[in-house]
Amino acid sequence: MSDSVNVAIIYYSSTGNVHALAQAAVEGAEKAGAQVRLRRVAETAPPEAVNSRQEWAQHLQDTADIALASHDDLTWADVVLFGTPTRFGNPASQLRAFIETTGPLWFEGKLAGKVYSAFAASNTAHGGQESTILALANTFYHWGGVIVPPGYTDPVQFQAGNPYGTSHVAGEGMPGDVTLQAARHQARRAVEIAAALKAGGAA
Ligand SMILES: Cc1cc2nc3c(=O)[nH]c(=O)nc-3n(C[C@H](O)[C@H](O)[C@H](O)COP(=O)(O)O)c2cc1C
Repeated sequence: MSDSVNVAIIYYSSTGNVHALAQAAVEGAEKAGAQVRLRRVAETAPPEAVNSRQEWAQHLQDTADIALASHDDLTWADVVLFGTPTRFGNPASQLRAFIETTGPLWFEGKLAGKVYSAFAASNTAHGGQESTILALANTFYHWGGVIVPPGYTDPVQFQAGNPYGTSHVAGEGMPGDVTLQAARHQARRAVEIAAALKAGGAA
């Protein structure tokens, strides 16, 4: 049922945590039978900022082969999953910069009717993961999207614990099995809902 669902996973990551969640989301969406595009947004920080942290510069170098997100990715997708680090309780400006190029698509109604979901990482457990995900949802409302959160729709959610979207405490190290499984589940669920919407003729 879900093999005709197109999924764009669009993320920003400075030091790899959100990238790891995005990779897991790719796995979940592909396992659900979707066509998947993994896309990063452009780094907008100046080189001196990036190079001030070795792990930031290294991650940027390691992911240089991942294509940059484009408007075509958004129009192509039935499902868009956004991933971002928390920045003072909000999405990273790099991801916002991409989102704020989408005015023409929004104006033409091309962002409406898609399934949207989001995931995040912050340094601490109460450092703003939920506010970051909810802040992205503000945009999904403007776009006329269908917001599909993971809720508690899989046993892993009772371990991962965030019904708003997969989230990770980067201060505890890179995402572990439970968090990665939650990201796979979130993507799978988004694909299944999108497939049902398409089968039902939703626009
Ligand atoms: C400018 C800035 C603001 C940040 N704000 C927060 C914050 O509000 N709460 C928090 O827990 N972590 C905060 N962090 C830490 C990042 O969220 C964390 O390093 C990030 O989620 C790691 O993800 P990444 O490896 O994908 O870059 C901030 C980091 C920077 C650079």
